Amino acid sequence: MKIIILGSASNAVARTAELIAQKIRSKPDAVLGLATGATMLPLYDALVVHHQRGLSFAGVTSFNLDEYVGLPAPHPQSYRSYMNAALFDRVDINLALTHLPQGDAPDPEVEAMRYEALIAQSGGIDLQLLGIGRNGHIGFNEPTSSLASRTRVKTLTRETRDVNRDAFGPGEDTPSFALTMGIANILEASECVLLATGKSKAKAVASAIEGPLAAICPASALQLHPKATFILDEDAAALLKLREYYLPIQPA
Ligand code: F6R
Repeated sequence: MKIIILGSASNAVARTAELIAQKIRSKPDAVLGLATGATMLPLYDALVVHHQRGLSFAGVTSFNLDEYVGLPAPHPQSYRSYMNAALFDRVDINLALTHLPQGDAPDPEVEAMRYEALIAQSGGIDLQLLGIGRNGHIGFNEPTSSLASRTRVKTLTRETRDVNRDAFGPGEDTPSFALTMGIANILEASECVLLATGKSKAKAVASAIEGPLAAICPASALQLHPKATFILDEDAAALLKLREYYLPIQPA
């Protein structure tokens, strides 16, 4: 695992954007796995700046990790709407090559199989971008998700629903279920990059990197991945015991 600790959230975001931009430059038809959430908003802004400076997304295919069950794509709080607003409508990506699980599919199990087949048809994910939940989730693989899990419907924890509430209107409850890629799918990507910023992520980050490999912290599954990079700001790295070991290996 590569552990990159940078002095500020904006530096962590810039480094992550640079890594993604490099991937697209070296492989213009790259298949990207994408994530949503508050952490990713400045990252997508940074990718838009790369685009304004000449980076083309025209050949890129993307697969998002998850979508709320029950929300149709045009719903303002769907992850499809989030992705269109945060990135897809702001760069030259071919919308037909951008994929998210269909939240309102009549049969979510069939949808999960369709989604996995589509990823396989595209040749698999070259670079999987990840955030991390305060409870250590990746995608919406909540604690105790099997480390061998595949795309499926997952019940969201109360904590995750409360954290996600900001995106919803007052009095509107957040969905209870999400269709999410499983941990096994995430581990199948050629490369994983997890971006975490802020104090609220410090405990989960420490468990993921230095804790035991355990379903109670789904992000710890990245310990099994041969090419996983954590890009952290100082706050998210605050509880790492081996900080002094990581710093000179991956200097800012
Ligand atoms: C959503 C996803 C989640 C988020 C995580 C962190 O697609 O992959 O695992 O990355 O919930 O969300 P924020 O960034 O809002 O703290």
